[in-house]
Amino acid sequence: MTEKSAPVSLRPMPKPHVLEIAPYVGGGHAVPGVDEVHVLSANENPLGPSPASIAAYQSLAPQLHRYPDGGADALRSAIANRHGLNPECIACGNGSDELISLLVQAYAGPGDEVLHSAHGFLMYPLAARAVGARPVAAPEAGLRADVDALLDRVSERTRLLFLANPNNPTGSFLTGVELRRLRDALRPDVLMVIDAAYAEYVSRNDYSSGLELVAERDNVVMTRTFSKIYGLAALRLGWAYCPPAVADVLNRVRAPFNVTRTAQVAGLAAVADQDHVVRSRDHNETWRQWLVDNLGGLGLEITPSLGNFLLIQFSDVPGRTAPDALSALKEEGVLLRGMAAYGLPDCLRMTVGTEVENRAAVDALRRFLA
Ligand SMILES: Cc1ncc(COP(=O)(O)O)c(C=O)c1O
Repeated sequence: MTEKSAPVSLRPMPKPHVLEIAPYVGGGHAVPGVDEVHVLSANENPLGPSPASIAAYQSLAPQLHRYPDGGADALRSAIANRHGLNPECIACGNGSDELISLLVQAYAGPGDEVLHSAHGFLMYPLAARAVGARPVAAPEAGLRADVDALLDRVSERTRLLFLANPNNPTGSFLTGVELRRLRDALRPDVLMVIDAAYAEYVSRNDYSSGLELVAERDNVVMTRTFSKIYGLAALRLGWAYCPPAVADVLNRVRAPFNVTRTAQVAGLAAVADQDHVVRSRDHNETWRQWLVDNLGGLGLEITPSLGNFLLIQFSDVPGRTAPDALSALKEEGVLLRGMAAYGLPDCLRMTVGTEVENRAAVDALRRFLA
């Protein structure tokens, strides 16, 4: 024992469940020794933010001594106008990650269960563990959430059900009809959180972001983010559309100034520039299809995706596995995302990038597979 270390019992100890959390590991942005890095690991918008967001962000520099509007009123009004919603039912967050955590913190605790589909977004089990609740994963059918399997796993202890729609990392989705069936059969005291982080990328008419379900019941929340199609991941901005009682709860548990002033002004400008959204969606559709065709042409299996990313399946032949591909591409400066943490060790996830990035990734994979 060194002079300074105290007996274990006298050290500050976190709650035991905190040490069970495996910290979230994000996609990297740099490769030592490689100058030109193509970051296709974090589902960011390859076109970047709207020029209007950049201008709004820059114009705020002389105002950095001012606190933000704690209620994010102007931003909530703009979001409400854009989607035809009641601004009182919107809560903004420091990324939708924060909203996910706050919902879990407010509605679940030790001994409770938080339900999600097997390959759902990692934040759900992580947020559950952070409050001592038990994450429960319902099996999927063909990498797609299964309504019956989810309903089957609802227990007396279930407090929240999370469903990313479309889901990251699988890219799969439930139709509006399936979403409604899940909601209708769910116990009314279980909070159903529909995480529609990629909703703006979807142009299918059998898809629903879940907005209309929120207005119909007291137990449905929909979350959205400015990190994906709006290209503002660095600023951390998300929002939730909630029944009034849930919005009230979020306003009680969030920090008073949880959304920075820069995020609010850039978000406001982003909502006003829907041309950028359309450009980003069109780019994504064109290049996602190009990637499906070209990766398929290399003999790789791709899961159909509605998001701005693709899940690519690799073989288990030594030298040809997903981790092998990840390292080989990294050496060439192309960063994809390993999926072991999602229980998909044979897969890599690739964000739809710029033309240059997409071509670089396909070329690197062609060399890897040759
Ligand atoms: C399904 C899903 N939900 C939420 C998030 C978190 O978004 P934010 O940047 O708003 O915290 C992500 C980010 O990748 C995501 O994929």
